[in-house]
Amino acid sequence: MMVTEKQILDAAEIIRNGGLVAFPTETVYGLGANALDAKAVTSIFATKERPSFDPLIVHICKTEDIRRLSLEEDARVYTLAHHFWPGPLTIVVPKSSLVPEIVTSGLSSVGLRMPDNEIALKLIDLAGCPIAAPSANKFGKLSPTTAEHVRKQLPELGCILDGGNTSVGVESTVITLETDGFVILRHGAITAKDLVKYVPQSKKKDIFVLAAASPGMMKSHYSPEKPVYIIGEHEIPSDKSEAGLLSFGATSNDEYKKVEFLSANQNLQEAAVNLFGALHKLEESDVGFIVSEAVPETGIGIAIMDRLRKAAYRFQKNNS
Ligand code: TXA
Ligand code: MG
Repeated sequence: MMVTEKQILDAAEIIRNGGLVAFPTETVYGLGANALDAKAVTSIFATKERPSFDPLIVHICKTEDIRRLSLEEDARVYTLAHHFWPGPLTIVVPKSSLVPEIVTSGLSSVGLRMPDNEIALKLIDLAGCPIAAPSANKFGKLSPTTAEHVRKQLPELGCILDGGNTSVGVESTVITLETDGFVILRHGAITAKDLVKYVPQSKKKDIFVLAAASPGMMKSHYSPEKPVYIIGEHEIPSDKSEAGLLSFGATSNDEYKKVEFLSANQNLQEAAVNLFGALHKLEESDVGFIVSEAVPETGIGIAIMDRLRKAAYRFQKNNS
């Protein structure tokens, strides 16, 4: 741990007193507040400039907390928690009255997750309350995978626990449970293939109707300040001398001003870990736009392509 016991204790006290703390998880850094304190949660939305219709994930450190935060018992939730927690899986369940409306943007459901990060688990435990936390970035912008990324977007924030680089690199898989099985609302490291070993997948296809207010599903998100184009998917300006390349592989390309490598030996896990860091670097550099290679859409590659397409969306013709 890069942070001291004392720093986590102090951060826990800030949470108990209704304040905000940025902390590492295995996916991305979170901007946390006491999930049971509506006023504290309001300041998360203000700090992020996040629209109030976008619900927050509630982070817990023990499975017993599922019971008091959810309305009814669902054995499938415990089965999934048993196999995937702590880990990058958020399970949306009907919420109990303990969870303030502001946390869930007025929805009757709440997303629960137990992060796989020692600092995060200790913070939740010492705070003595569940912690509501979105990613610690300005709304719609690049997610933070280091404490520096958090500082860049939220410089006014008083408490940032520095846990170094996050180990997964993309946000948690978000699922909801229909009567016939799970539906994925946001792709992450845990895939449908992993989940079906324990719970069947729902036949429901119309997830946009199911989760109209699930902005992980918004078409534009996670986006840097510069245009992003994906090779094979978008029309790319022919002059690349002022462009940055996001490369999935080891070969350099002199056509570009700058190249960031996601994984020299094309390992998708490694590419996920490096994804947001590489985008942050290209955003900070003097390139005019970013061109990304596509990665295979298997395993965590599905989540990587989802993030890249959302990063690119607002820059393509006819979208804004
Ligand atoms: O990995 C993660 O999930 C990170 C770390 C900090 O835990 N958190 C994160 O939070 O990515 P955020 O706020 O950036 O994304 C939360 C997304 C929402 O945008 C929404 O799509 C979905 O989770 N969500 C949360 N609660 C929901 C609910 N009750 N119903 C449907 N979707 C929900
Ligand atoms: Mg986010």
